[in-house]
Amino acid sequence: MLAETHVSPSQRTSDLAEARFRAAFRSLPMPILMVDPNRVRAPVIFANEAFFDLTGYSPDEVLGQSWQFLQVPGAEMASLDVVDAALHRGEAFETEFLSCRKDGSSFWSSLALSPVHDEAGHLRSVTVLLNDVSAKKQVDRDLIETKQFLEEQIERRTQDLQTALEQKTALLHEVEHRAKNSLQMTASLVLLKARRLQNPEARKVLHETAERVSALSAAHRLLYTAGDVSRLNLKEFTAELAGELVMALPDGQVDLNLNIQPLGVPASKAAALALLLNEVIGNAVKHAFPNGRQGQLTIEIGRAENGLKIAVEDDGVGLDHSPPPEGSFGKTLITMLVHQLKGRLTWHDRKPGTRAEIVMPVDAEETQFE
Ligand SMILES: Nc1ncnc2c1ncn2[C@@H]1O[C@H](COP(=O)(O)OP(=O)(O)OP(=O)(O)O)[C@@H](O)[C@H]1O
Ligand SMILES: [Mg+2]
Repeated sequence: MLAETHVSPSQRTSDLAEARFRAAFRSLPMPILMVDPNRVRAPVIFANEAFFDLTGYSPDEVLGQSWQFLQVPGAEMASLDVVDAALHRGEAFETEFLSCRKDGSSFWSSLALSPVHDEAGHLRSVTVLLNDVSAKKQVDRDLIETKQFLEEQIERRTQDLQTALEQKTALLHEVEHRAKNSLQMTASLVLLKARRLQNPEARKVLHETAERVSALSAAHRLLYTAGDVSRLNLKEFTAELAGELVMALPDGQVDLNLNIQPLGVPASKAAALALLLNEVIGNAVKHAFPNGRQGQLTIEIGRAENGLKIAVEDDGVGLDHSPPPEGSFGKTLITMLVHQLKGRLTWHDRKPGTRAEIVMPVDAEETQFE
């Protein structure tokens, strides 16, 4: 009776509440511990059936013991210290914790600490909710392993593709290299033959043929020397071709103006385009400035709607200055090539001079050249 007189009404109320609390949790399917945070090492003051089922301990082995028996022997102390600190501070806290059963087997549990205060606000106990998350952890581990496996597979596959691409590029370079060599050899053979001919007309024809073959050879050379073998660098090709053609004229006779955007054309169109430029620029150089006439030759290449626009303009004598010689073939070839490239060609009489404009479709992505 004397003892009862020392129990304050608020203490009695909270004892009653705790008793109700325990009764409510006793048969819950979720493992629950209740510990006393106000005593050293926070001994267990309550554990429910689900907790005993999960851990294999009996009430005698658990009640009055520090909650720390839950930790796997030899496991890192850091996680235990963190939980312990939260527990003594009476903080709500959640973490994952490697726990231990009576038989020594371990399992990952998620711990949820929730403090219980009495009406006066004093920390009375801490409820610890345990949840076996080993299966989830295993799924997480499996997912990480699967992710690693897939990443390795992707890495290996990417490597294989990269190697295959490098081999393909090397092969294409080799093909372009051989095509360029064969064409160069053909041009040399034609020039050798031309040198042995007396007939100037026959020599002229052979020279022009060698020039055409050389233009094709140059396109293949630029393809195999470029990093991107799938595209011809139009700016480089045109500048080189026009430079060589104008160089055949006396110094200073014709000013060459180039306004060419850094564009590429797909290798499949390179030969036709190389020949086409050779004919149109070659015509301007050969025919627009007869008898030492001085002038300007302007070449513009840029993007047009859905493709490329090429303009070759001179301020020479004009297309109708003289009738085409017998057997002339360049313009027919130009028409054929423009047709093959699915383009459109228009001639403009600039009075003085001639402007040839070619618009041809090329995929916007294919024309990209850094
Ligand atoms: N830019 C130009 N300025 C002046 N005349 C030109 C120009 N382009 C072409 N011609 C004229 O058109 C003619 C026909 O050109 P085409 O290219 O068909 O033949 P070619 O150049 O004379 O010979 P081939 O091209 O067969 O070697 C030329 O002979 C020339 O008279
Ligand atoms: Mg011609």
